[in-house]
Amino acid sequence: MVSYIETKDLVKVYRIGKVEIQALRGLSMSIEQGEMIAIVGPSGSGKTTLLNIIGGLTSATAGQVWVAGREITAATPAQLGYLRQRIVGHIFQTLNLIPTLTAFENVELPMLAVNAPQSERRKRAEILLETVGLQDRMNHKPDELSGGEKQRVAIAAALANDPPILICDEPTGDLDTETGARVVEFLHRVNKEMGKTVIIVTHDPAIARQTDRIYRILDGRIVSVQRPTDTEEKTAALMAQMLRDRITETDLELQELELKYRRQEIEPEKFAARWNELVTTREFLRRELHRMGF
Ligand SMILES: Nc1ncnc2c1ncn2[C@@H]1O[C@H](COP(=O)(O)OP(=O)(O)OP(=O)(O)O)[C@@H](O)[C@H]1O
Ligand SMILES: [Mg+2]
Repeated sequence: MVSYIETKDLVKVYRIGKVEIQALRGLSMSIEQGEMIAIVGPSGSGKTTLLNIIGGLTSATAGQVWVAGREITAATPAQLGYLRQRIVGHIFQTLNLIPTLTAFENVELPMLAVNAPQSERRKRAEILLETVGLQDRMNHKPDELSGGEKQRVAIAAALANDPPILICDEPTGDLDTETGARVVEFLHRVNKEMGKTVIIVTHDPAIARQTDRIYRILDGRIVSVQRPTDTEEKTAALMAQMLRDRITETDLELQELELKYRRQEIEPEKFAARWNELVTTREFLRRELHRMGF
């Protein structure tokens, strides 16, 4: 039995001329219907690539992907079009609102693409914009809206065709904490009240903590999956602090060692041996910190 959304040994290689970039290196994950999931990880670890594959925008180089019970790596262009229009609502890292259209028209656009009747389009665009609290901003163009308002229009547009899945790439990236919190609150309602499966890519631990599960991704692979509890988060933060302290200590010891060597208080062989030892330790500590996603 595969899960509602599942990836198995997913590999994505981008090719630019002769250069190959391995964005995903055998990534496996599974998400149940109705879950709200956070994906966290450093810049360049493959988060957007993963969402673009699940959303039917990018094809995988190898591996398999099931979305709403269908395997999509072998899907035809028409099937992928259906997936993008009806199954997965996508909020992009760089917002994809059309600048010349009003908020209302931006929300109406995905419905035009599936030939929904005009009366239905209008009613639904109004309801959606009301739901995200923008009933008095319907005729504003993106440039005439604040960052948080634009983000809410993007959410309304992603929900236009009532997709069962919503994927959000850094939905609060450019927003201040308070505005971000409102957007996240709305995504929780989309999950709980509308029953949609929601995936959020975020750099914000506080947002990740509010979801059902956190997938941590590093160098194109999943390195951990956890159910957020305060204790786990605190333990991770404590561990990270310990590692940082050790790195600082090692840095100081390296500085002292160099001084001693300059003052000829230590023999060259002993200096070299200890120096290498400390540098190796520091590398290990840094890797460990990076592996934890910090
Ligand atoms: N279209 C592309 N062509 C070539 N390389 C790409 C392309 N898109 C992404 N990459 C590379 O693939 C890797 C993963 O990129 P991706 O955008 O998935 O990372 P990310 O985790 O979303 O990062 P961020 O947190 O900065 O958004 C990076 O090394 C990136 O440079
Ligand atoms: Mg990204």
